[in-house]
Amino acid sequence: MIRKRILSGMRPTGKLHLGNLHGALSNWIALQNQGDYDCFYFVADWHALTSDYANTAEIRTNTVEMVVDWLAAGLDPVKSTLFVQSSVKEHAELFLLLSMITPLAWLERNPTYKEMTEEITGRDLSTFGFLGYPVLQAADIIMYKAYGVPVGVDQLPHVELTREIARRFNFLYREIFPIPEPLLTEVPKLLGIDGRKMSKSYDNSIFMSDRGDVLKKKIAAMFTDPQRQRKSDPGRPELCNVYTFHGLYSKPETVTEIGPDCRSAAIGCTACKAKLAEAVAEGMRPIHERRDHYLSHPDEIRAIIEDGNVRAARIAVATLAEVREAMKISHEL
Ligand code: TRP
Ligand code: SF4
Repeated sequence: MIRKRILSGMRPTGKLHLGNLHGALSNWIALQNQGDYDCFYFVADWHALTSDYANTAEIRTNTVEMVVDWLAAGLDPVKSTLFVQSSVKEHAELFLLLSMITPLAWLERNPTYKEMTEEITGRDLSTFGFLGYPVLQAADIIMYKAYGVPVGVDQLPHVELTREIARRFNFLYREIFPIPEPLLTEVPKLLGIDGRKMSKSYDNSIFMSDRGDVLKKKIAAMFTDPQRQRKSDPGRPELCNVYTFHGLYSKPETVTEIGPDCRSAAIGCTACKAKLAEAVAEGMRPIHERRDHYLSHPDEIRAIIEDGNVRAARIAVATLAEVREAMKISHEL
């Protein structure tokens, strides 16, 4: 039986944080373990170049670090195909071909493009590659004739563009590509230790690799209910990031206890955080064990990526043959 394909990618940002783990990554793992889908997950290293072309020193180490976090979290390289975009050159060819049929206006009105060119100073983003970001993403997705693309809301405009590009290809040449569906799932809203969105660039992240004293210290430093100044002040757990974390890591009994205890000031934030630190350390233990395993077996990481690249390329090569044929650009006469 041919299972429906799922495809998603992440730019190589290096170490992942708990926001990534409980957002995209746990979603990927759930789809993998559901068993109904053939999952393809890749490192979008060419996409990293679209905005960071001037600083490429870390792309390679970031790629490996991120894959280690994927494996530690529970992506299974037997069940899922894990690969690196730049190792499957067909992505570049499909990108080129799709760029020929993508109207500039579709790219210029892309909200992410508009936002980033306005917000990001310091880097010159007025490049061809940056404008074409969604065309490369469309190539990534339709290459595998993906049925579903698990993404966050921020990526919806890109998936929408992918759908339009796929439709245009099908209309101009031949019906080769299924129209992919974005797969959105509800994810818990985890904030960084300073109460802002958890983000590597804000320096407020708890990393998947954090453990021991580092983990304890970060949790002890977390912002809580801003109205709770003294231990005797009643707290509002529903507004507290620490409480959201308890919901993910603590036993249900503990969570139901902490809620009222916080509201009645029966528990103080220091004690509440100490409990959380223990629960997180405990919950992350299997992930840390797998991480240690892979870090002491770098050859296994390499083999997993190589195997994934081969499995991805088998499909990519077949798709490109169909595409060239449909566009009459094939020289296999
Ligand atoms: N643009 C995505 C991000 O920034 C990464 C990405 C590249 C991607 N190609 C993709 C995601 C294809 C899903 C499908 O997170
Ligand atoms: Fe947050 Fe816990 Fe403090 Fe309540 S007791 S405000 S849930 S840290």
